[in-house]
Amino acid sequence: MKKAFTNLSLLLIVVLIIFPVMLDAQDLSLPAPMTAGGKPLMDALSERQSSRSFSDRELSLQQLSDLLWAAWGINRSADGQRTAPSSHNRQEMDVYVTLKSGLYLYDAGDNLLKQIHGRDIRALTGIQDFPALVPVNLVYVADLTKRGLKEDQAITDTDLLSSWANTGFMAQNVYLYCASAGLSTVIRAMVPRQDLAAAMMLKPWQTIILAQTIGLPADSQ
Ligand SMILES: Cc1cc2nc3c(=O)[nH]c(=O)nc-3n(C[C@H](O)[C@H](O)[C@H](O)COP(=O)(O)O)c2cc1C
Repeated sequence: MKKAFTNLSLLLIVVLIIFPVMLDAQDLSLPAPMTAGGKPLMDALSERQSSRSFSDRELSLQQLSDLLWAAWGINRSADGQRTAPSSHNRQEMDVYVTLKSGLYLYDAGDNLLKQIHGRDIRALTGIQDFPALVPVNLVYVADLTKRGLKEDQAITDTDLLSSWANTGFMAQNVYLYCASAGLSTVIRAMVPRQDLAAAMMLKPWQTIILAQTIGLPADSQ
């Protein structure tokens, strides 16, 4: 009994020492998403709208966690299924997050934002003026190798059809979350794709589908 206790203590010490090392210093660990509550669905649908009027105030980490879970979180942990559907469950979509503090990749399994780099590239996510100033722009990216394409294979419009559809579901989930949480959002196709892909250091088999801006409404306190 005493030996088992000692072994357990040793294991705990090793985990406590190693785990913070595994988590990159610049990664953002998110609080667990609040997966219950919010406005009734019909109220959220009634209030869903695009808005281009944003405050520059930061979202809380809880709001960030909740909106990412709405977009592309895991809602059936037993088999890793998501809050949004994907064709053949290929799950080829990645959600990148541009914040003032840098570019991050949403890791739904570990509920964290993996930092890609520390540059502020919000302005490059759109050709309108507001993306540069708002706290959060999501960039929905399809990784075609997850749909079975080879890394050197040319990507056709047909290859991307499902990714566009998948992105529509994710974006609508974010719209509904924002309606429920009193946040402003707009989905955007007007994106300088080439410049943004370079700034995101995307591989040739990764394609930007759409971007989405999220923030507090301009007139909020
Ligand atoms: C595929 C798609 C691309 C869009 N691209 C942009 C965009 O680049 N910039 C923008 O301000 N709004 C964009 N919108 C938002 C639409 O303008 C908006 O949904 C439309 O005016 C209807 O307004 P509502 O969303 O409030 O119903 C886009 C919407 C969709 C579905």
